[in-house]
Amino acid sequence: MTDPALTYSSYLKIDELLALQEPRSQGPEHDELLFIVVHQVYELWFKELLHELDRVRHWLEDDESHRAQHTLKRVLSIVKVMVAQLDILETMTPLEFQSFRQRLEAASGFQSDQFRQLEFVLGNKSKAAIDRFPLATRARTALEKRFGSPTLWDAFLTYLSREGYAIPPAALSRDVTARIEPSADVQSALIDVYRRDPKHAEMCERPVDLDEGLQEWRYRHVKMVQRTIGAKIGTGGSSGAQYLVTTLMTPIFPDLWEIRSRL
Ligand code: HEM
Repeated sequence: MTDPALTYSSYLKIDELLALQEPRSQGPEHDELLFIVVHQVYELWFKELLHELDRVRHWLEDDESHRAQHTLKRVLSIVKVMVAQLDILETMTPLEFQSFRQRLEAASGFQSDQFRQLEFVLGNKSKAAIDRFPLATRARTALEKRFGSPTLWDAFLTYLSREGYAIPPAALSRDVTARIEPSADVQSALIDVYRRDPKHAEMCERPVDLDEGLQEWRYRHVKMVQRTIGAKIGTGGSSGAQYLVTTLMTPIFPDLWEIRSRL
């Protein structure tokens, strides 16, 4: 028996994909499908971002700086689409959301392990974030692996060190499970890069683009939350928008922002 000819549907698993949206509201409420589809699309983008960011790390480890930049450009294009996509969900009014919100019970984007994985890859490590996921699940295993792995920033600094910049040894041998903290010595090395090396200075701008893009996503998400549920608490049990506001304006790569006023 030969395998049936590959088709668009069989390759992309369209039947399986279209069976994955299961509204919980009675009726079901019209807007619940949009809510599910938008979240699923985000999870797919998160998957692709993780795939690409792993690639960037490997390119840096192999001293393939052009390829690293090329892939970072792709990452940024995805982040921009992720920000723009919030427009679609913002067409849902507070009452339309209210019509099915109760059916979400305690489910919340707060529990997105891929979002936490992204934070880990970029340097925002947190043991507490792992502990929220049940042992031996796909999510927990993936998070534990990323928790113990070097971040994009570690790969970037190690690359710059191999290029001859005075990255402090403490930054190169730091505990990779710790959150990235600003470092005066790293900033001095970065200032050196910006002042005398246009090629690598340009390269340093790509993580800044990414940082700004993700901060923009957070801001737009908060505004969407405020206009949809106001000051209500979140389904995930946080104070809602009030909690989300505390996550704004926090850079992923603080050193790259810090140096700007000294250049
Ligand atoms: C009407 C739409 C939405 C509302 C009202 C909403 C509301 C909230 C609230 C209140 C929180 C705080 C945690 C909690 O207590 O639940 C939260 C967190 C979060 N949401 Fe949304 N959200 C919406 C859409 C989305 C979408 C489309 C995504 C895309 C995946 C998303 C991803 C996240 C993530 C990743 C967090 C955790 C952020 C962090 O802890 O830093 N949300 N959301």
